[in-house]
Amino acid sequence: MILRRLPTIDSTQDEARRLVEAGAVKAGTILVADEQTAGRGRFGRSWLSPRGGLYASFIVGARREIAMIAGVAALAGLSEIGVTASLKWPNDVVVEDGKLGGILVETIGKRALVGIGINVQDAPLPGAVSLRQLGVPLRRGDLVVAIGRSLERLEPTDALRVYRRRLITLGRAVRIQLENGEAVEGTACDIDSEGRLLIDTASGIHVVSSGECAHLELPTGGDLPGSPVC
Ligand code: BTN
Repeated sequence: MILRRLPTIDSTQDEARRLVEAGAVKAGTILVADEQTAGRGRFGRSWLSPRGGLYASFIVGARREIAMIAGVAALAGLSEIGVTASLKWPNDVVVEDGKLGGILVETIGKRALVGIGINVQDAPLPGAVSLRQLGVPLRRGDLVVAIGRSLERLEPTDALRVYRRRLITLGRAVRIQLENGEAVEGTACDIDSEGRLLIDTASGIHVVSSGECAHLELPTGGDLPGSPVC
């Protein structure tokens, strides 16, 4: 594992991409920035990245299950600094429904770039939460190394087992906004081996691999969120 610290960068994802394209980094390299001037989130949104937050891109081998592995690795790292977090599909890191962090996975050739941002001092948006608000001091190096170790070690079957257990989306009524403008609404009833969401809708089971997920309501029956229901 090689850690490269960058005082200021546009985006650790963009820097990782440039380095991979130039053949200038090996898998196992982690870029950690003190601040980003053009941090990116999913769906082309910007990710506010003032000094004091955690912004890292992990360069790893690409595999089909990498998004799910990334989510579980983030949870494992956070648990090492005393934070019990869960996931909202596909990969929002949440604590009691507040978003603590986000994950952006991109692939180039044989490499995957796993970008992770964690709110440390402030929660930048309504509905977000930060480590400071949770009363947890950030040990940035420890957290980054713990996530990197999990990314290297996690086997897809173990990641799937933990992902399914820690996904608060399961069992909930959801609306998934797809990138093509369509939306799928129903009950999130399970995930498949690559972390795609199975949604039980009026027209049958839909399998969704990416999209913007909104939780519509808490389940009214006996099923608890976090449990497969199909
Ligand atoms: C999301 O939309 O929830 C994903 C946010 C990912 C942000 C991280 S911060 C480090 C890395 N560099 C970026 O520009 N984005 C990711």
